[in-house]
Amino acid sequence: MAKAVVLLSSLLFQCILGDYFDPFSSQNKTKQKNNNRLPRITCKSKTHYDFGYCLGQQTEMLIKERYNRSTHFQDLYAWVNTVNGSIILNEFLTNNYNKYPDYFEELYGISNGSNVDLTIVYVMTLDDELSYFYPNDSNVNTTNDNNNNNNNNEIIMQGIQYSNYKHPMACSDYLLHNYAPRTPTSKYHKLIDYSMAHNEDNIPECRNVTYVVDAAIEGGLSFVTYSYAGELPTQAFGYNDYIVFTSNYVHPANPVVGGIGRNFVGRNLLDTTNLQEAMDVVAQDGQCGGHNYQIAEWTTGNMTGAEVAYDGLHAFTLITPSYNWTFHANRYIHLNISQVEDEEKVFVDLYNFFFWGHFFFLIKKKLTSWYSSEHREERAAELGRPNGLSDMLNDLGDTEDEEYPIYKYGPSDYTLHTFGVELKNCSWTIFGDNPKLRHVIYQGSVQCKTPITH
Ligand SMILES: *[C@@H]1O[C@H](CO)[C@@H](O)[C@H](O)[C@H]1NC(C)=O
Ligand SMILES: *[C@@H]1O[C@H](CO)[C@@H](O)[C@H](O)[C@H]1NC(C)=O
Ligand SMILES: *[C@@H]1O[C@H](CO)[C@@H](O)[C@H](O)[C@H]1NC(C)=O
Ligand SMILES: *[C@@H]1O[C@H](CO)[C@@H](O)[C@H](O)[C@H]1NC(C)=O
Ligand SMILES: *[C@@H]1O[C@H](CO)[C@@H](O)[C@H](O)[C@H]1NC(C)=O
Ligand SMILES: *[C@@H]1O[C@H](CO)[C@@H](O)[C@H](O)[C@H]1NC(C)=O
Ligand SMILES: *[C@@H]1O[C@H](CO)[C@@H](O)[C@H](O)[C@H]1NC(C)=O
Ligand SMILES: *[C@@H]1O[C@H](CO)[C@@H](O)[C@H](O)[C@H]1NC(C)=O
Ligand SMILES: *[C@@H]1O[C@H](CO)[C@@H](O)[C@H](O)[C@H]1NC(C)=O
Ligand SMILES: *[C@@H]1O[C@H](CO)[C@@H](O)[C@H](O)[C@H]1NC(C)=O
Ligand SMILES: *[C@@H]1O[C@H](CO)[C@@H](O)[C@H](O)[C@H]1NC(C)=O
Repeated sequence: MAKAVVLLSSLLFQCILGDYFDPFSSQNKTKQKNNNRLPRITCKSKTHYDFGYCLGQQTEMLIKERYNRSTHFQDLYAWVNTVNGSIILNEFLTNNYNKYPDYFEELYGISNGSNVDLTIVYVMTLDDELSYFYPNDSNVNTTNDNNNNNNNNEIIMQGIQYSNYKHPMACSDYLLHNYAPRTPTSKYHKLIDYSMAHNEDNIPECRNVTYVVDAAIEGGLSFVTYSYAGELPTQAFGYNDYIVFTSNYVHPANPVVGGIGRNFVGRNLLDTTNLQEAMDVVAQDGQCGGHNYQIAEWTTGNMTGAEVAYDGLHAFTLITPSYNWTFHANRYIHLNISQVEDEEKVFVDLYNFFFWGHFFFLIKKKLTSWYSSEHREERAAELGRPNGLSDMLNDLGDTEDEEYPIYKYGPSDYTLHTFGVELKNCSWTIFGDNPKLRHVIYQGSVQCKTPITH
């Protein structure tokens, strides 16, 4: 009996410790290949609807695969088909439509081009926003309120609570200016090199369902962007001939029901022609949640980090000679705003009692903290100021902190691709696998144009 208890206890001990101190985890993680496909499509279209139709037609299988794989999307879809859920969805649709009717044409096109229900396209496009209000699992019964005659929007809107759905804390970003040393004859710092780099991270369900599109809509700008199948481009990164930007998840604590969604802001950025205009777009009032953006002009090298939120709240960090690089993970560090911590972690304390030999008693503790962002920020600070794109790519491939590496290789979070931009020579590259390995997937050059000031 006593022996059985000892054996059982030590087995338990091993199981629990095994999760935290894995003796087999010291493989060379730099070699990690995440093996994500990245199709590239072209959509030169006459209208916004045609552009969406082209996206839908060419990514139909990806959209369906992504939806099929994601119980989260399926749950959201079921919810927006209930009375409560549809009222909240409609609140978002009305406000976003009023602001961006052209981009809704694109959504209709995506739906029709891919034969995917328009509501699924809405759910995918407004995923982050709807997830804030999606009821906690235990409280949702998606079958019982369809016959509810109490169709009182006011009451339902007042009853809304924030969901505890946790979005993965995904993506890391760098911005950098390099200046020539000042000489006795040069009054100003001369900008000689400017670049940016971005890890696009996401949950396992997002592997192999992203793509790049080379787009042009008659009467508008040409642009290239990275997108997730089924949603309005983009919440990742993109550029046109004037500006280039990346975006990064943050989680403000008090999102606004029906506010402007991130994908609409990202889509709007692809239509801007100078840094100031782009800054006005990302900091606009009326947003639901918030985001972190890195935005730069190709020809001037002017660039800024932006932390934005609802009510027009924003903090810009312009890159200047004295503040000449930034690293950003998934929390607000400049905007003083209440935000949701990124992860809940269960700690197990072991107490060792002597009773006919050993006996282990377990206590579980739940703590929340900024594990992932804090670890990545600390590691970036340790790595220090990068000296150019090459350093930034190596740093984005860093896996030294095995529990919360900058380059993510699963199981809950993956770096899907890495985007590097050398603004001065108007070039960009998308890398697959660990960016340290420099596995180039696509490379391009841009018809850099002087920003248009209105
Ligand atoms: C890990 O692999 C990378 C790429 O193959 C190599 O450059 C690096 O030296 C290796 N590191 C160790 C510690 O083996
Ligand atoms: C993604 O596609 C690549 C190439 O086709 C394949 O090797 C890999 O296993 C796929 N990954 C997932 C998670 O489906
Ligand atoms: C998605 O799931 C449905 C139903 O299970 C199936 O009919 C369809 O073929 C699947 N589509 C893809 C692209 O996996
Ligand atoms: C989408 O397709 C349906 C049926 O094919 C059609 O009735 C509808 O007008 C199309 N939507 C738009 C916005 O063109
Ligand atoms: C959900 O609602 C339906 C219809 O009112 C009911 O039959 C079912 O038992 C409910 N399910 C749960 C889990 O409460
Ligand atoms: C719908 O919303 C109302 C008001 O917030 C709430 O009382 C009710 O429980 C909700 N119904 C469901 C099925 O969640
Ligand atoms: C959902 O969970 C969060 C965090 O646990 C809690 O604050 C909130 O009240 C819950 N909402 C509902 C509708 O139970
Ligand atoms: C670039 O930024 C500097 C400093 O903020 C500003 O004076 C200058 O006008 C900007 N240049 C352009 C072309 O926007
Ligand atoms: C760039 O920033 C570093 C600190 O990160 C500073 O030491 C350096 O002097 C700055 N460069 C210029 C040109 O001011
Ligand atoms: C942030 O805001 C809170 C509440 O508005 C305030 O108490 C705190 O001093 C602010 N912190 C900083 C660093 O400004
Ligand atoms: C632009 O910069 C990238 C990264 O440093 C480099 O690989 C590429 O050769 C450069 N292109 C030109 C035309 O100089």
